[in-house]
Amino acid sequence: MTGSTHWWHDAVGYMVYLPSFADTDGDGFGDLAGVTLHLDHLADLGVNLLWVTPFYPSPMADFGYDVADYCAVDPRFGDLDTFDHLLAEAHARGIRVIIDLVPNHTSRQHPWFQAALADPGGPYHDYYLWRDPAADSGPPNNWVSFFGGRTWTLEPGTGQYYLHLFLAEQPDLNWRNPAVLDEFDTILRFWLERGIDGFRIDAAQTLIKDADLRSNPQIRRWESTAARGEQWDSFEHVHDILQPETHAIFQRWQGICQEYDAFLVGETYVLDPQRFGDLLQDEGLHAGFWFGPMQIQWQAAQIRQTLGAPLAHAGTRARVAWLASSQDEPRAPTRFGGGELGRRRAFTFVTLLFCLPGLPFLYQGEELGLVDGIVPPECRADPVGADVTLSRDGCRTPMPWRPGPAFGFSDSEDTWLPDGGRTDSDTASVQRASTDSWFARYRSLVRFRSREPELRSAALEWLSVDSGNVVAFRRGTLVIMANVGDDPLEVPIDGELVFTTTPLIVDAHRPSSAGATHVVLPGSEALVIRTT
Ligand code: GLC
Repeated sequence: MTGSTHWWHDAVGYMVYLPSFADTDGDGFGDLAGVTLHLDHLADLGVNLLWVTPFYPSPMADFGYDVADYCAVDPRFGDLDTFDHLLAEAHARGIRVIIDLVPNHTSRQHPWFQAALADPGGPYHDYYLWRDPAADSGPPNNWVSFFGGRTWTLEPGTGQYYLHLFLAEQPDLNWRNPAVLDEFDTILRFWLERGIDGFRIDAAQTLIKDADLRSNPQIRRWESTAARGEQWDSFEHVHDILQPETHAIFQRWQGICQEYDAFLVGETYVLDPQRFGDLLQDEGLHAGFWFGPMQIQWQAAQIRQTLGAPLAHAGTRARVAWLASSQDEPRAPTRFGGGELGRRRAFTFVTLLFCLPGLPFLYQGEELGLVDGIVPPECRADPVGADVTLSRDGCRTPMPWRPGPAFGFSDSEDTWLPDGGRTDSDTASVQRASTDSWFARYRSLVRFRSREPELRSAALEWLSVDSGNVVAFRRGTLVIMANVGDDPLEVPIDGELVFTTTPLIVDAHRPSSAGATHVVLPGSEALVIRTT
């Protein structure tokens, strides 16, 4: 179906990283009941689509992204009843719920992998990707993991290597095996029958691998000790990810989702906009997350490029899902310079995202203007990135709900990650009580997006402006403009000021008696004008 008939065309998303959202059973780890407890916070913010990260039984080598059973709930997170309750309470507030499907890999502890180990001649062996050692008894090809190091681990019991694009604890499934496709059809239906509204597909670009598992062309010397990104960039990724046969899987899933009016959004982690666009073709995923924003500097040309390029390539059938922050990257205010300036820049950037075609998501705590939390070396939990700058712990520290012990995240002082050095003014309760808080600003942005139909449907037209520091575009009658520089700019106003990132702009807006009006747009701020 095309056009604007799908419910997700009007959605504003919110991502919950479950281990860090809210703990209700005192084990220092977030849980599903914690999400239910705070649904009013989300309803008040105005979001209507909730994405919850994995809650399946898991050894937690990657905090739930190593799944040991796709059709159950880990006791640390709750049980199926707690899940059903969350779903019902979210729906009662007009909030749809999508869950994280992790199809690229299972946990080593998944019964399929255990069966493959126990019986290499049996049916489960071919659920995974096994190869004999190379002639020098090393790994079968030159692929490297997203998390650094080789993608192959030798299993002494079988004498073969198994493939894992992530941790060794996350063996990759063999998506060329029809039995795996059937298993996942059942898994999708299990959750859709419970009433969920769709799936976020983890690592969507990686499911199918080259049939012969050929080595990737090598661009430069690979150092096993280099940062994981550098290791990854030492190769041209032509055989390990983005294989065209993956589309058939997405199409199959879209067919199932259609029966339930459910939504499929991919973690389409590919930074080349052309290849990103290719992933979204052919009636497969309804939308894909674009990760360009995580890579840019605070610079007008880079911002324009990262906002424009994915839209230019995604076509009209699928949507770009926008995120400025996530559980995997430093938070936007930290990336954009930290402190108050970083927070202002991040809000201005998110304002641009919310005014573009597509589907904007906020990451928990973004609405509080949070920078990355501080995690001392002895408290680090992420298995990825020994170095603090590469670790994902900083963007995963617990949500600060209210002043007091553990900032209201947990009754336990012994939380899985430390509080990150938050202050009372970072907390949701303090900010919600104020009209001049980050929460108040993000809430007004979410509501602005939701009440302006043109932001959801009008064509996008980029505007060229005299100053090189301005990013500006039009959506119907709305003109959106951000000042990326440090110096204030005088902006002529032909119409009504309908949204500003700071009340200072409104205060300074004085229509002149001669009819010509202008406004001063401070550095790192944005505004929206309804033109007449
Ligand atoms: C995705 C998740 C990330 C996880 C990885 C492996 O990138 O966002 O948190 O570690 O997949 O499942």
